[in-house]
Amino acid sequence: MHTMTTLLKKMNEQEKLVMLTAYDYPSAKLAESAGVDLILVGDSLGMVVLGYDSTIPVTMEDMLHHSKAVRRGAQHTFVVVDMPFASYHGDFDRTLQAASLLFQEGRADAIKLEGAGEVLQTIERLTQVGMPCVAHLGLTPQSVGVLEGYKVQGKSLEAAETLLQDSLAAERAGAKMLVLECVPHQLAKRIAEELTIPVIGIGAGADVDGQVLVYHDVLKYGVDRLPKFVQAYADVNEVATDAIRSYVEETKNGHFPQERHTFTMDESLLDSLYG
Ligand code: KIV
Ligand code: NA
Repeated sequence: MHTMTTLLKKMNEQEKLVMLTAYDYPSAKLAESAGVDLILVGDSLGMVVLGYDSTIPVTMEDMLHHSKAVRRGAQHTFVVVDMPFASYHGDFDRTLQAASLLFQEGRADAIKLEGAGEVLQTIERLTQVGMPCVAHLGLTPQSVGVLEGYKVQGKSLEAAETLLQDSLAAERAGAKMLVLECVPHQLAKRIAEELTIPVIGIGAGADVDGQVLVYHDVLKYGVDRLPKFVQAYADVNEVATDAIRSYVEETKNGHFPQERHTFTMDESLLDSLYG
């Protein structure tokens, strides 16, 4: 059973933390049995599971639906759930209500919020209520409409300074972890050195406390092009397509089903059946 305490212990013993996204019962089950330290119910589910072209259309209902399935598949793993687009801005009561649902119905261990500024104040207030929050800085996909596409962040000195200051502010606000997406590895290293909370990188190099990747990317499952920072460890596209193709072929040519796949009734009944 992973808690913040066991995760921090691992980090302090220089053990890398491994986070993987999962979106449903089978993915959560496989992630847990393969030994990941943390599961993220990412709003990336909008793309890899629901077929949208960004995370913007993902709703609270979507997040709850998938979180519940993930928890049924992984009862012993620390589960972080993304707050979806525009669900944690403006009126704090509305944010609080959304966050509560993810903890109480979605059974999250922590929730993740993208961005700095106002969002860090929100993290502070949610933390005061007793809700563990994970900050997400660098490339923040929910802001893709106002960023210039999915690009590396913090490359200029000014942007790097801002990212370092925002990371420190996230820790001061009470964030339990920081996800750092698509930043130069030197900057990620510097941030991880400055922070005491775990820094989990994605496209942020090796000198951070842990890594997070998207389930479907790691397995090459239903995705075609992979970002530079991904390592695919299998090719499920190929395995699954081959399997389905075999099913089609064997059904067409009569090799499936075989006798071992069929049920039999007593021969003596056949006369009446044909009666
Ligand atoms: O939604 C997601 O999968 C994420 C990770 C890429 C960090 O936020
Ligand atoms: Na996300």
